[in-house]
Amino acid sequence: MEPMAADKPAAPAAASPPLGRVLMLAAQAWSGFQAGQSLDRALDAALETSRGASAALAGALRDVTTTAVRRFAVTEFLLTRLAHRPPDPDVRALFAVSAAQLLAGAYPDFTLVDQAVRAARAREATAAAAGFLNALLREFLRRREELVREAEQDPARHGNVPPWWLARLHREYGARRTQEILAAQNEEPPLVLRVNVRCTTVPAYLDQLAAEGLAASRAGESAVWLHRALPVERIPGFTEGQVSVQDAGAQLAAALLGVAPGMRVLDACAAPGGKTAHLLELGDCSVDAVERDPERARRIDANLQRLALTGPRARVLVADARHPGRFWDGRPYDRILLDAPCTASGIVRRHPDVVWLRRPGDVAKLATQQAKLLDALWPLLARTGRLLYAVCSIFPEEGRQQSSSFVERHPDARIVPLRQGEPGGWQLLPRSAQTAPMEFDYSKQPVFQDGFFYALLEKV
Ligand SMILES: C[S@@+](CC[C@H](N)C(=O)[O-])C[C@H]1O[C@@H](n2cnc3c(N)ncnc32)[C@H](O)[C@@H]1O
Repeated sequence: MEPMAADKPAAPAAASPPLGRVLMLAAQAWSGFQAGQSLDRALDAALETSRGASAALAGALRDVTTTAVRRFAVTEFLLTRLAHRPPDPDVRALFAVSAAQLLAGAYPDFTLVDQAVRAARAREATAAAAGFLNALLREFLRRREELVREAEQDPARHGNVPPWWLARLHREYGARRTQEILAAQNEEPPLVLRVNVRCTTVPAYLDQLAAEGLAASRAGESAVWLHRALPVERIPGFTEGQVSVQDAGAQLAAALLGVAPGMRVLDACAAPGGKTAHLLELGDCSVDAVERDPERARRIDANLQRLALTGPRARVLVADARHPGRFWDGRPYDRILLDAPCTASGIVRRHPDVVWLRRPGDVAKLATQQAKLLDALWPLLARTGRLLYAVCSIFPEEGRQQSSSFVERHPDARIVPLRQGEPGGWQLLPRSAQTAPMEFDYSKQPVFQDGFFYALLEKV
């Protein structure tokens, strides 16, 4: 079968990279993701194969591949209905990224199919199957309504999560809230900035954005929501250290820790240093930022440098926080932040790949690791000192259950209530920017935040 004729080709913006090339690279990234790579790693690997890729190409590649991951469950289902036998992995990848674009409706159907077929012909691995791909996509277009309806009857497929993930959410949150969580997770995440209060203020920065014609609004104490996403290098004041990119929910950590001038603070799992920098911006404290991964630790240094926060107040230490003997000088800390490794189930809208890369057993494994970190760090805290336990997760094993079993193990610990009715800690759920009210009291709960759990533990 021939590719669909493009009688009225879509007019891409002058700087838009060719769609066929984007689809081809997205299919490569998709294959990496299928092989177990994180989306970021798979995108980097795909870009490496394309020498001299422009920023526009990299941006389009990210958009197309992310859309495909957000539609993973449905496109997999479509293949089972459209193909009599599973296609070769390279063809499957090209089908997945192309069908996801058809579902998203970002391009006219005929343009998309035409470009997908060209992409298939351009690679040796897929050239022979170009006709087959064309047939699959055209058949999908013919039966789109019926197939999409059938696909979405299954709630896990509709929410783009594996059944075990859905069952966990149901168990904890019930059907209605689970649906809200899944809807929020499948949306474009908002671009939220943290204003560096050492060099400017939120109102002054909002004025600066307005002067440059950029719509924005306040989304927290130091948080600004930029209504249209921009690459970081084009965000006003980013290179000069006036702002950083950080979700509004993540920005709560430094405030909750309650740091005062002169305090000694340990940031135990620190890279890439978003919260370390925020702590240093807020108060004249000193921070030991501990990170196990040396490469990621270099990102803390780079961030502190951009924000002009390097100096004796900030020490970056490469060490495993479970073994304090390797980095601790024996002097107690007044505050400890443990932003522990977790399933990332609260930040799926930013990392849609995590739901497919995680396995059910990971939740218990990570919960054990978090408990070990908590137990190892508790002796480093001064009496009356406070430790903020944070995870970007919405699974109770990593949140409420973790903090409750910690206080059972440690009679000298109490949980400081952060919100009424949540004695075991504060579970923030991901919220949708579209449905949130625009007027809000940002001292309570910001509207655009990702899913986080916070428990403030005090040594009594
Ligand atoms: C959730 S991220 C931290 C994000 C960071 N707090 C921020 O706001 O930018 C967790 C970090 O902990 C690091 N990590 C994991 N296990 C660790 C350990 N045992 N000791 C030190 N760092 C660890 C990971 O490499 C990762 O960089």
